[in-house]
Amino acid sequence: MRPSPPPDPSPAADPARIEVALGERAYPVLIGPGVRHRLPAEIARVGARRVVVVSARPPEWTPDPGVPHRVVPARDGEHDKTLATVERLCRAFADFGLTRTDAVVSCGGGTTTDVVGLAAGLYHRGIAVIHLPTTLLAQVDASVGGKTAVNLQEGKNLVGVYWQPRAVLCDTEHLTTLPERERRNGYGEIARAHFIGAGDLRGRPVAEQIAACVALKARVVAADERDSGLRHILNYGHTLGHALEVATGFRLRHGEAVGVGTAFAGRLAGLLGRIDPARVAEHHEVVTGYGLDPTLPSDVDHDELIALMRRDKKATSGLSFVLDGPTGPELVPDVPEPTVRTALV
Ligand SMILES: NC(=O)c1ccc[n+]([C@@H]2O[C@H](COP(=O)([O-])OP(=O)(O)OC[C@H]3O[C@@H](n4cnc5c(N)ncnc54)[C@H](O)[C@@H]3O)[C@@H](O)[C@H]2O)c1
Repeated sequence: MRPSPPPDPSPAADPARIEVALGERAYPVLIGPGVRHRLPAEIARVGARRVVVVSARPPEWTPDPGVPHRVVPARDGEHDKTLATVERLCRAFADFGLTRTDAVVSCGGGTTTDVVGLAAGLYHRGIAVIHLPTTLLAQVDASVGGKTAVNLQEGKNLVGVYWQPRAVLCDTEHLTTLPERERRNGYGEIARAHFIGAGDLRGRPVAEQIAACVALKARVVAADERDSGLRHILNYGHTLGHALEVATGFRLRHGEAVGVGTAFAGRLAGLLGRIDPARVAEHHEVVTGYGLDPTLPSDVDHDELIALMRRDKKATSGLSFVLDGPTGPELVPDVPEPTVRTALV
């Protein structure tokens, strides 16, 4: 039987609240059980009179925005993260008569928040959007920070805009229906956050883990919204992670690949003398501590991984990685290939 949401529709008492400080585009991220029921208050704050809710979740999990609205069903998954979906959504917005002063709500995983965010950023050259991320990965990462994108046949996330939401509601009750593998997927991003300033979150309640990761991301995005410097640190573990996703034909979920990439980043930083053996071991322990496998799949070709990592968008000068070091994580260019190969175990 499908688990149904808790019956009490009253808002959670005291959710964690984190502000993404972007001046007049600042917005809150609320985290806790039941925060989806705060949607009407957030819609009122935005001042929207009509709303389209794009939801990949079942009706009982799709909150009422409290104003005249239309629910447009969506499907999570990379397959629907396309320009065709953006067009379908924008046509639904137009059909419902959304104006520039109205709003769109997304309710689903990171694929849905990404595609709805892009549609909202393009419709009428930008309309308010509120995200209700429903996976752990989308709550700790994808829904916060304003990056939106869709895929082309040529590659992932190739078309997008920066479009900040007006609010993000991370309802931890959504996570009660999440399959175990999707939960682990989110923990890949939490594991990498350990090494870029979120601290040791192992064993803490999930709402605290999400709040710490969102607070870290909010700080980084406020300092470097458009990814010209500091925001690179969010890609800790991602250079190998992205290469592994491609090399395995996306058999590995993003967070699983980032877990492997995080353990690798520790080994590489150790080989380069940037961190001591205890810190290298900590990478392994943190990744396994979140239930993730830190080892590379045995069937991946290391030559292919190297070639893919050379094409990474951060790789402006040779093989480049975000690595831990005496002054914290930073982008390290021109890492010698033999050292990278030694760390690929
Ligand atoms: N914009 C950003 O800054 C950013 C950052 C990280 C990742 N992303 C993007 O996020 C996407 C990955 O997001 P994802 O991992 O959430 O994947 P997803 O959206 O595909 O969702 C994963 C699976 O979880 C299911 N699901 C969602 N919510 C559920 C719930 N409450 N209960 C049960 N099942 C549920 C979905 O049906 C799907 O099968 C990628 O496309 C990635 O590029 C974006």
